[in-house]
This record gives sequence, C-alpha cells and structure tokens, in this order.
Amino acid sequence: MEATHASFSEALEALKAAAEETRLRILALLAQGELSVSDLTEILGQSQPRISRHLKLLVEAELVERHREGAWAFFRLAETGAARLIRPVIETLDRDDPHLFADRTRLAAVRRQRAQAAQSFFARLAPQWDRLRSLHAPEAVVEAAVLEALGGKPVRNLLDLGTGTGRMLQLLGSRAIRAVGLDASHAMLSVARANLEKAGLTRIELRQGDIYAPPFPRNTFDLIVVHQVLHYLDDPARALREAAQLLCPGGRVLIVDFAPHNLEFLRETQAHRRLGFSTEQMKAWLTEAGLDCACAREIAPPQGGENQLTVSLWLGEDRRTLTDWPLAAPNREVA
Ligand SMILES: C[S@@+](CC[C@H](N)C(=O)[O-])C[C@H]1O[C@@H](n2cnc3c(N)ncnc32)[C@H](O)[C@@H]1O
Repeated sequence: MEATHASFSEALEALKAAAEETRLRILALLAQGELSVSDLTEILGQSQPRISRHLKLLVEAELVERHREGAWAFFRLAETGAARLIRPVIETLDRDDPHLFADRTRLAAVRRQRAQAAQSFFARLAPQWDRLRSLHAPEAVVEAAVLEALGGKPVRNLLDLGTGTGRMLQLLGSRAIRAVGLDASHAMLSVARANLEKAGLTRIELRQGDIYAPPFPRNTFDLIVVHQVLHYLDDPARALREAAQLLCPGGRVLIVDFAPHNLEFLRETQAHRRLGFSTEQMKAWLTEAGLDCACAREIAPPQGGENQLTVSLWLGEDRRTLTDWPLAAPNREVA
C-alpha cells in the first residue's frame, strides 16, 4: 500500500494521542508486532477498560489499526499517514528505560506462552500431518520449486490465502514490502503468529476471514499464494475468481496443490474435498478468472512408496499490464 502524507491537523492529533505514558508504551509494544487487548493488559498490568480506552484513542488518531479475529481484537501499528511520524520516535527511545525494558520482558513471556499453546495444538495434529507429508515430495523440494517459479521479480504486496501455520509467509514475507496472511481458523492463526514472531517477522499482518469473501479491496496485491488450500474447498474456481479480483495489473497467483489422485482415505482422515486437480482443469479456472497460466509444473513423489501424491504448481498471471492501470478491463473494476 502506498505511503501517504499526514496533514498538519492529523499530525497534531497523532502527536497528542501519543503524548501519554501508557499510550507511548503501547505504541512501543505494537512496534514489535500485533497484540490483543488481553496481551496488553497482561504486559502493562492495567485493567482491561483502561487499556481499551487508550487503544480507542490511538485508533481514532490513526496511529493503530484494529482488526477482529473471532471473539478477539488485534491491534497493530499503522503504516501510513500520521503513524509514519511515530515509528522514528519509537526507534529513538532508550531501550534500557526501566518501563520499556520491563514491557519487553513481559512481552517475551506472553509470546513464550503463545508458542507453547501453539506447540500443543500441533502435537495433537502431528500424527495425521506427518502421515500426509510422507506421501509427497519433501517440503524443501516444493519450496525450492515455489522460489524458482516466482523468479527474481520484486514483490510489493503479498497475500497468502489459507496461510495455516504461516509457512509461505516465512518463506516469502521478507521479500515483500507488505505481507498479509488470511485464514478462517483462529487456531491456525495463533500458530502462524507464534511462528512468525519466532522468525522475527513481526510486521506481517494476519487476518481471520473467508477465502470466498476476502476482506481486502480490489487491485491490492501483486502476488497471491494459495498453497495446499484448494483441495479443502467446495468451489475452488470461485476462490480463484475472488483472488484474481484482488490482483493489481500484471499481478500473479501461485497455486500449489496435488495432481489428480485416488487416495479416497484423505477425505475421511484429512477433510480433503477434492482429490487433486489436473493442469487442464486449473488452466480453465485461471482463464475464467481472467488470468493466463504462465507456468505449470509437477513434483514427483519420493520413489518406492505406495499411495504417493504428486505436488503440482501453477502460476496464473493477470493479463493487464501496469500501463493499463487504472484503465482496467471493463469487467475488472478498479477500486
Ligand atoms: C493444509 S492448510 C495449508 C496451510 C498453508 N497454506 C500451508 O501450506 O502450510 C489449509 C488451510 O486453509 C484454511 N482454509 C480452509 N478453508 C478456508 C476458507 N474458506 N477460508 C480461509 N481459509 C481456509 C484452513 O484453515 C487451513 O489453515
């Protein structure tokens, strides 16, 4: 998203909002990643209504963004407008200040608790996931193919649809100026949050939402990744059409899934709905979504086992070029 200038009055409001001890501590904490009200309550040792009041002021001054994730609300430092005045202020704060030091220590403890909760969630799922993993090429091989397919083209705005544990964001997030992960599952997003924090990727945004109704404006992202998600969906074509609407001119959608297979048991044990996709099918869906199939590739399963799955990778490309924008094709409305 493009950075914008702050007007004089916005800057004044933002500076006034930040000029209070708890609020400046909240801003310093949010500079280190997204936090919920209960995280902040625990770290700052103040009551929830007080913290909520401070957050409301910071949101009104557009220094902080709020987004809902089920019953929870998460807060993050805004990136645009008056918020750009505040990051340098936070960066110049003395890290050894006793308040800031104590806040950082408690933040680390909150993150440790989250990571433990994420690990126990995984421990429950691991037996099924390990079984699935053993059926296809190692993840490192698939990830190398993902990087190769994307090539060296720069990425400004990245969206990972069905981000799950955030693996694709870990792989690609640091290449992008803005990176966002969307998933329907709060439990998965909690794991993703813990993983991204562990990897030091604290500016990546995570959103809870439905792939069929993604909560983003059109023409926003230049790279969208849909990695091992489409086989869970009733209507993968519709999900691709929705994704295509989010692409800016010349943007790309990278899909990684399985080639057609007959492992019916994956429906019962792993909740798969679709038993893989052919390249012919994928090309037809990409065309329907207004995209060209720029690359299709198959990654063979490891040799020798039974019940093996081929991983397929397809790269769809928006037909509009940058010079078409904002004069986009008539059926592709510009937001
Ligand atoms: C197997 S995981 C893949 C996660 C990740 N892309 C990866 O490859 O590691 C599939 C993810 O898709 C998410 N998902 C399934 N249906 C969805 C929907 N309708 N909207 C958003 N996310 C969805 C699930 O919650 C799950 O986290």
